[in-house]
Amino acid sequence: MKIAVLVGSLRKGSYNRMIANALCGLAPSGTQCEIVEIGDLALYNPDLEDPSPPKQWKEFRDRVRGADAVLFVTPEYNRSVPGPLKNAIDVGSRPYGQSVWSKKPAAVVSVSPGAIGAFGANHHLRQSLVFLDMPALQQPEAYIGGVAGLVNEKGEVTKEETREFLRKFMETFARWIEANGGGAATSSKRAA
Ligand SMILES: Cc1cc2nc3c(=O)[nH]c(=O)nc-3n(C[C@H](O)[C@H](O)[C@H](O)COP(=O)(O)O)c2cc1C
Repeated sequence: MKIAVLVGSLRKGSYNRMIANALCGLAPSGTQCEIVEIGDLALYNPDLEDPSPPKQWKEFRDRVRGADAVLFVTPEYNRSVPGPLKNAIDVGSRPYGQSVWSKKPAAVVSVSPGAIGAFGANHHLRQSLVFLDMPALQQPEAYIGGVAGLVNEKGEVTKEETREFLRKFMETFARWIEANGGGAATSSKRAA
């Protein structure tokens, strides 16, 4: 089961990337996480689709298309999703009728040094997932607040309670992926 992981922060020392790595490390056996980078995607402009879209757009679309599910790990910028992540979502959603997101099971983890765990970004993102027709895991919700106190300088999650939460989250997500058909990649494997 291949999970494409999209990290909403481009920052080198990103807490979100630390949590994404921790989630991947705690995922149950049989799952394979792959962080799909979004930082080099040109800003979405339909004019760039013809005659041929940018190479990075094509690679990005192919990588997401080849995954069974998508895990979003995102900070909150001004109570919403950071621009680069929204851009990646837009790139994947076009050309019209060829969205790479459609039917892929998804989960959202939001991460912030603040107290409310990027709740605003988490829910703005969920609004897009409805439109993109991605079955999104509802429970457990994952708002990781006060993240600076949960990791060490190597980016490892030090708080056992948090590790346990992340482990259970990935177990539940794996079951969710199974229950929702595992997205396009699995369906095409089954059909083959
Ligand atoms: C442009 C900008 C807007 C931000 N807005 C919010 C916000 O609305 N809510 C919040 O909790 N943190 C906000 N922050 C702080 C981020 O949560 C913090 O920088 C966090 O570390 C970013 O995630 P990262 O460590 O993965 O890069 C903002 C940061 C930036 C740069």
